[in-house]
Amino acid sequence: MADVYMENMTRLPSETFRLNQQFDLMTKNMGYILHPSLKLPPVPHIADIGTGTARFIICLHPQFPEAVFEGFDISPALFPPRDALPSSVTLSVLDLKQPFLEDMHGQYDLVHLRLLVSAMRPEDWAPAVRNIFLLLRPGGYIQWEECEFLNAEWRKTTPDARFETAKSMTDAFSDALHQQFQHGWNTLPKQMREAGFTSVVTDVVSSDRLPETRSDMTASILSLVFTWARMMTDRGTSGPLFGDHLGDLEKAVHQEIKSGGYFKFNIHVACGQKPPV
Ligand SMILES: C[S@@+](CC[C@H](N)C(=O)[O-])C[C@H]1O[C@@H](n2cnc3c(N)ncnc32)[C@H](O)[C@@H]1O
Repeated sequence: MADVYMENMTRLPSETFRLNQQFDLMTKNMGYILHPSLKLPPVPHIADIGTGTARFIICLHPQFPEAVFEGFDISPALFPPRDALPSSVTLSVLDLKQPFLEDMHGQYDLVHLRLLVSAMRPEDWAPAVRNIFLLLRPGGYIQWEECEFLNAEWRKTTPDARFETAKSMTDAFSDALHQQFQHGWNTLPKQMREAGFTSVVTDVVSSDRLPETRSDMTASILSLVFTWARMMTDRGTSGPLFGDHLGDLEKAVHQEIKSGGYFKFNIHVACGQKPPV
């Protein structure tokens, strides 16, 4: 199976901290983990696809301690150790882009996904939504969160704040993933309706809604950007931009974040319900 995610991302152990932190900061700014319109049964069967470190499951479990949770990912590399998970949670390898086994059809009350963008080609989104429709029970929900990195902006919290170096790094990253960043956040609601979902609801919240999250969110995104830049440099595909200067650039970026320069983008949430029979 083609692992498009690995073209620009890694699954190094350091990704565990970054993904968990990013998940928590996004959730804080959204203000919820499940969209308030979702009405789940008291003991739901929940799947999280592209689960990574299983953060969604770990955070939602206390709200549904009796629920059955299944996390799926194309790679098990970021899965937490078995003994770090509640006993009702299982994690397995599964490719969202392949047809699911028929015995999984009609089993779930909720299928959740977050931040799959760097794994998706433009043509992958609609079939993935159709695939998920099959997994749900009648009346079951999909909830999918993606970020609008394409139109991200830099802002200052103080008049003297700086972000020139940081902006040049995030611009390079956005240019490299330009094709991927054009889809998902803006296409999912229509693709959900076309797949047969009803009551499609959307929400959009800015990643800087809570001022106290701005600096950590920026540092988290920049940590991803530098991991990507190092990977591209190692592969010899970064061109003249980074050269041997990545360490110096990273120090400069940390100073800029300290000075009050921060990165903001929209977080989009799309939910839909499989029609109840
Ligand atoms: C950016 S991480 C997000 C992880 C998690 N959803 C979160 O919000 O913390 C994307 C995850 O999707 C997984 N992934 C990539 N391609 C996939 C595919 N085709 N099927 C299932 N998972 C995939 C990656 O391995 C990675 O763990």
